[in-house]
This record gives sequence, C-alpha cells and structure tokens, in this order.
Amino acid sequence: MCGIVGYVGHRQALEVVMGGLRRLEYRGYDSGGVALVPSGDTAGTTAWAKKAGKLVNLGGVLETADLPEASTGIGHTRWATHGAPNDRNAHPHLDATERVAVVHNGIIENFAVLRTELEADGVEMRSETDTEVVAHLVAAELNRTPDLTEAVRLVCRRLEGAFTLVISDAQQPGVVVGARRNSPLVVGRGEGENFLGSDVAAFIDYTREAVELGQDQVVTITADDIVVIGFDGAPAETRTFHVDWDVSAADKAGYDWFMLKEINEQPKAVADTLLGRHSVDGLLQLDEMRLSDDELREVDKIIIIAAGTSMYAALVAKYAIEHWTRVACEVELASEFRYRDPILDRGTLVVTISQSGETMDTLMAIRYARQQRARVLSICNTNGSTIPRESDAVIYTHAGPEVAVASTKGFLTQVVACYLLALYIAQAKGTKYGDEIASILAELHQIPQGIQRLLDESDQMRKLAADLVGSRSILFLGRHVGYPVALEGALKLKELAYIHAEGFAAGELKHGPIALIEEGLPVFVIVPPKGRDQLQDKTISSIQEIRARGARTICLVEDGDDDVVPFADHIIRLPRVPTLMQPLVATVPLQIFACEFAELLGNDVDQPRNLAKSVTVE
Ligand code: F6R
Repeated sequence: MCGIVGYVGHRQALEVVMGGLRRLEYRGYDSGGVALVPSGDTAGTTAWAKKAGKLVNLGGVLETADLPEASTGIGHTRWATHGAPNDRNAHPHLDATERVAVVHNGIIENFAVLRTELEADGVEMRSETDTEVVAHLVAAELNRTPDLTEAVRLVCRRLEGAFTLVISDAQQPGVVVGARRNSPLVVGRGEGENFLGSDVAAFIDYTREAVELGQDQVVTITADDIVVIGFDGAPAETRTFHVDWDVSAADKAGYDWFMLKEINEQPKAVADTLLGRHSVDGLLQLDEMRLSDDELREVDKIIIIAAGTSMYAALVAKYAIEHWTRVACEVELASEFRYRDPILDRGTLVVTISQSGETMDTLMAIRYARQQRARVLSICNTNGSTIPRESDAVIYTHAGPEVAVASTKGFLTQVVACYLLALYIAQAKGTKYGDEIASILAELHQIPQGIQRLLDESDQMRKLAADLVGSRSILFLGRHVGYPVALEGALKLKELAYIHAEGFAAGELKHGPIALIEEGLPVFVIVPPKGRDQLQDKTISSIQEIRARGARTICLVEDGDDDVVPFADHIIRLPRVPTLMQPLVATVPLQIFACEFAELLGNDVDQPRNLAKSVTVE
C-alpha cells in the first residue's frame, strides 16, 4: 500500500522521485503526487503536483505544470483509506502557506481530535484525509523551532496509529525528514545523495546500500548525511544491509506481466530457497536461524500465522510439520489470532509467513505472541522489513523481488522454507534420521525440474483459459495437501479475474457446496497421488458425484495415473512427486490459468483492482 519516496542529492529530484514511484507502483495505488523544494531564485515555497489515477495522469499534469528544478523532493502513490481517491485527497498535503509538504502511509487514528483542535485554531482543511493534520502541525512547530527534525519528532509524539511520514520544508532545501511507526520506511545510502523509500525498489536504480529503520524513529537525510534518532530524541542504532538483487530483477524481462515473469522464475526461486542449506557433514543448516537446537527441542506446539496466500502456504506446511516433527501445528489467520486469547508459552513456536515482511495483521500478531513470551520465527522474502526484524529467528526465502500483486513464487518458496524448517526441527528433535532428511531434501531438489516442465507446457493452460473465459463461477477441489492448493487456485482467480471462485475440501462437498454444482460449471480437481489412505479413490468418488450433476471436471493428476481419466473432461498432467510435494507442482498450472484468464478479460494482471501488494493497515 502507498509508495513513498524522498530524495536529496545532486540529481533532478523530480526524475528520481518519479522513477522511484514507478518502481513502487506494484504496491497498489489510486493517485500520485510529488513535492519539490527548489533552491536559488525559486526557493521558499513548495512546488507540487498531484493527480488521481495512475502515474501516467500525474505525468500529464507535470508536463504542463513546469515545476522548477530542484535537487530535494518527495513523492507518493496513495492507496485510499480516509477520503475518496480524488485529486484533493492525493498526497502531498501542505500547510496553509505551502511551506511544509507531507506524504504518508498508514492511518493516524487520532486525526479527528487533532483536526478539531486545528480547526478551532482557524486552520482550514483542504482534504478529507488523516494526513493533512500533520502538515499543519509541523508548520506550527516550525514557528517555534527552526529545526525540521525536531518539529517532526514533536509532532510524531502526538500521533497515534501507524504511519510512515516523509516531510520537506520549503525553507530548508537539501533536507528531507522521515519518521516511522508500524509502517515501512527504508533509507538508501548513496554517494553525495541519499534516499528514502517504502522499500528498496524506490532507490534500486541508484544504490544497493540500505539502512534499516527501527520502530518510532526519525531519520534526517541530506546529500551527505543520514541521522537517525528515536521519538524520544536519543540517537538510534541502525543496521546497514546490502540489497542482493539488481535493477533487472525489478523489470519485466520481456514478459507481458510481472506475474508471468515471476511464475516463470519459480524453478530458480525454489532452487535459491534450497541453496546452501547443507553443512559439509551433510546436516541441514539454516544460517539465519537464531534459535539453538536446545530451544527447538523444547518446542511442543507450533502455530503458524499468516494472511492470504501466505496462509495457504502455512496450511500446506502443517501436513509436513506434523508428519516429520510429530509436533502439533495450528494455522491461524493473522487478523484473527490475537482476538481469540490463544494459549501460548515458551514451548510454543510461533511461525509467521510473510512475503513482504510488512503485513500489518501479521506484525500485530507476532507482537502479541512475543508479549505472551512465545518464540517467534518468521519466514520472509524481504530483507530489512519489519516482521523479521521483530522476530527471534528468520528464514529468508531468497525468491527475489515479487512485484505482481498476486503472489506466485512467494507461495512456492514459502512452502519450501516451511519444509526446511520442519526438517530442521526433526533433525534437532531426532524424529527423523539424517538419511531420511537427506532423501527428502534430494526430492525437494528435484522440484525445480518438475516446475520447469509445467512451464514448458503452459500452452495447455492458455487454451483452457480461452475455453473457459465466459465462466462466471469456477470451483476448485482438493484433499489433504491438495485442499490448500484448491484454496490458492481459487484466490488467484478471484484476485485477477474478479469472478466467483471457491476452493473446497473434496470431502466437504456433500456437506453443502455440492448445491452449487450445475450444468457446465467448471471444477478443477487436484487428484492426490495413489497409495495414501485411499485419498485418491475418495477424490474420484467426489468427481463422479459432481459430474453426475453436470460439472465439467478438469483434473490435475500425476503422470501415468489413468484411474481418473474416465471421469475427467480435461486432464492436466503433473510430474510424479511425493504426496507432500504435490502442491509445489500442482499450484503452477493454476497460477498460469488465472493469469491467462485475466489477460483475456482485459484486466490489469499485475495490479488487480482494489488490491495492494503489502497490506500495511489492519
Ligand atoms: C494473494 C496475495 C495476498 C498476500 C497477503 C499476505 O495473491 O498476495 O493474499 O499473500 O496479503 O502478504 P504477505 O505474504 O506479504 O504478508
């Protein structure tokens, strides 16, 4: 949600800021704006422009606006919370004299009180946003202190809720101040220039050296310096990290959509998640794991907390975790977790899964878990993000940046990372022998090859999408680990195609969903491999039941298994893999299907309506 950029240096700030905003477009937004702080003849007032809609609209305004040259600037892409997504509510917001410009991500919960107070002082509000109060409050502080950092710090102490703020003062060219509480902000360290961004994509064109900010901190950037203090005014410690992906990682590389590119990157992404996880003596090693074997041996319950697709990865992982470690595992939606008074203690390992590392529901859940003394381990794709920073341990998925709003390689690599964690716990607890772990790892290493084969066969999904594109409803059925795959297949289609799509556990059909079946309704069925608790036979019975009622069945079934063929209207072949690994291949055709289906409908595949990539509000 909301992309933020700040720049001070030797380049044209407008170019840097607009470039950064374009790189942040993937976060999801509905308006954009920039503010520049000129020096020289035009110094003293902020030059700004903003516009509802995509950045191309803002570009149109900028063409005629003729903003002065400046080497200090801030910019914003807004995902509306308070107030409609129109020009007036777009950021930046300015005080009455247009000296202070503010861009903001998050929700200022006490804005109504602050607004009433300002209005009582005669301030006239120009928008319906919660953000605007900050511009007026900072301007008022600047009447008392000339120091922008101090003014911002004092205002932040009065704000409640979640916020990233980036602020400029027209009377102080060469300075931009940022602040964060519960919302993301990263600093980019350049040479003779410095940057602020919602994430590193904002400045990846210029530097790969980044500084992580902590909770309740204010950062002041000038061309040559980065100074960080706490909201209490004390100097703060920071951590610098190197961004290990380059600019090309954030480009489409010839694909029509980032999503398609990311689907096609999955063999490499899965291989990268597995890379370097063995020690020379053949033991599984997780370098970033900050929990000792003794601590892992004490774990008697695992609770996985996540949202959306990451929650479905958790549902898959539950099967492997319980099977390999014999530790009970629960999966919980992050947004529900802390409201049900969960029972947690030092023996509980709370695992969070988050691609972005910034999802507010998940962040709040882990804070709650830590308050209850549980240990928290996060599985995350984004270095420098808040969730791993606030966790006791972390396993990075190393999938590379995921730009499309709909998660694809994020999902597969999360499942793989969870499997590594399960095997690691099994190793520490001795619930699996070393050779068993080695053989499961060897099977995991075969998965990229299987995914590649499905990618090579993606034409069949393209044709199927063309065939089904008129459908207004599509169902997905699965059992065991196929059930979360069904949920994920349906979610992808909902997100991208905006049609009714539901995933069900096949065994639940007769308890209600079968009423939905009607003539010609397409139903995808993830057929379990043979030989496990007669799951396949039971699934075939479900297929017969829905087919008898007119459903059109599209069955995902492993190579060489023909038992389902008489009951399938369409067969999609999957490489033969062990049962627990079937989600790592079965999900891929469903991702391609959703992407192609949405493209045929003319939808924006990378930025589906109403959605944001990292959901930084509760
Ligand atoms: C769906 C999707 C979302 C995210 C969810 C959690 O395609 O991308 O459902 O999975 O918002 O996001 P992270 O993993 O960043 O916490």
